[in-house]
Amino acid sequence: MPPKKSGRKPARKSAKKSGGKTWGGRFAGSTHPLADAYSVSVDIDRRLWQEEIAASIAHARMLGRQRIIPRADANAIVRGLREIGREIRDGRFRWRDDLEDIHTNVEARLQQKIGDAAGRLHTARSRNDQVATDLRLYAKAACDRATEALRSQQRALLDLADANRAVAMPGYTHLQRAQPVLLAHHLLAYIEMLDRDAERFAQARDRADAMPLGSGALAGVPYPIDRRSVAKELGFSRLCDNSLDAVSDRDFAVDFVSAAALTMTHVSRFAEEIVLWSSSEFGFLTLPDAFSTGSSIMPQKRNPDIAELARARTARVQGDLAALLGMLKALPLSYNRDLQEDKRAFFSAEDTVLDTLRVFAAMTPRLTFDAERTRAAATANYALATDLADMLVRAGLPFRKAHEAVGKLVRYAEQQGKAFDELTIEVFRRFSSLFPDDAPKLGLDAALRARSAPGGTAPRRVSAALRRWRERLAT
Ligand code: ARG
Repeated sequence: MPPKKSGRKPARKSAKKSGGKTWGGRFAGSTHPLADAYSVSVDIDRRLWQEEIAASIAHARMLGRQRIIPRADANAIVRGLREIGREIRDGRFRWRDDLEDIHTNVEARLQQKIGDAAGRLHTARSRNDQVATDLRLYAKAACDRATEALRSQQRALLDLADANRAVAMPGYTHLQRAQPVLLAHHLLAYIEMLDRDAERFAQARDRADAMPLGSGALAGVPYPIDRRSVAKELGFSRLCDNSLDAVSDRDFAVDFVSAAALTMTHVSRFAEEIVLWSSSEFGFLTLPDAFSTGSSIMPQKRNPDIAELARARTARVQGDLAALLGMLKALPLSYNRDLQEDKRAFFSAEDTVLDTLRVFAAMTPRLTFDAERTRAAATANYALATDLADMLVRAGLPFRKAHEAVGKLVRYAEQQGKAFDELTIEVFRRFSSLFPDDAPKLGLDAALRARSAPGGTAPRRVSAALRRWRERLAT
């Protein structure tokens, strides 16, 4: 990427009649400088330069092959575009705000380089099908980047789960200790979520994979173009079938941003747990130095800033999604200038989701857990109550009755200020005669082992899941 310009310069005065505008012919006066400044998008859409150059080269070649423009001109155009691509890559290209967007910037430079032949490039094409093509190409690559980043975070979670295989902790509902689970089981839940996110990016990629080019401004073009060959060169697997839809559809951008928003939402839930777990109240984990900050006035502090920022940036991506949907909902067919704003939301969502996944993939494996503390928390507060009820069920009692008996036992134990294992079997049997002798000694590990139905937290199930994911994420 070329270095980003800091402030936006006011559009250069385009006082001359057509002011370098590609559409200047029919206008007698020039546009107001404020109107120009308000419409520029080159600061944002120049990020599409690789797609722009590739799509223009493919289009020019096809025009030459089809004899729509002279072969020699097509060749000159392709050569010129390649040079421009190198100029941009090396940061030598002079971006001009007065030329509005990336498309006009490139075309104007081409004109400087090869003269009037440059004017033939825009035959059988409009900026409307052009920008839609650029952004679809970009979206496909962005989906690949997001998938890659998701896989890294999945691997990071898997490493963390593996390193803490035997760690037990309380599972929660309503943020109340509910039943014990393995930490690895908890982390595997996030691996599942991120896997569905990867699936969504794959679907988004697939839907973006249709080429608008050849649709013209909105109605198709009156030239014998060969769209298939262009699509093939650009790596599109199919063509957009309706020109009106092709220039105005931004579903594919919504798909991407929506997948990004949900990914962020998942990361944010994990972030929230990091914030909670690293507090003194929980004391479950310690953040690595490299990913926490101190306080300028409270020397003892270790703050989970990365997790907090991710939580907040999730709201921004959700905002990008709302912005896109809002932008589209009242647009009559076909192209409207509103659509220019799609890129702002798209790039913002992309940057945020990639940055977030990357920093989490680096931080996650370095979280260290206090296994004694999580284990103690896992059995405190009568967390094995459900297991006692299950014992009664195995002895023949209907579950509702068992639940009631254990409920009363919990109330009694609470009044006495005692844990289950501090009560005798005689006391247990006051609440149900069906309690087996070992009921008071029911331990955490037995409770974990018992949850061995598919999908449960039993160690053997969790080990199998870890193995499965290790295989799946190996490639
Ligand atoms: N910069 C414009 C965009 O991003 C390109 C298309 C302009 N088309 C037009 N009819 N003004 O949407």
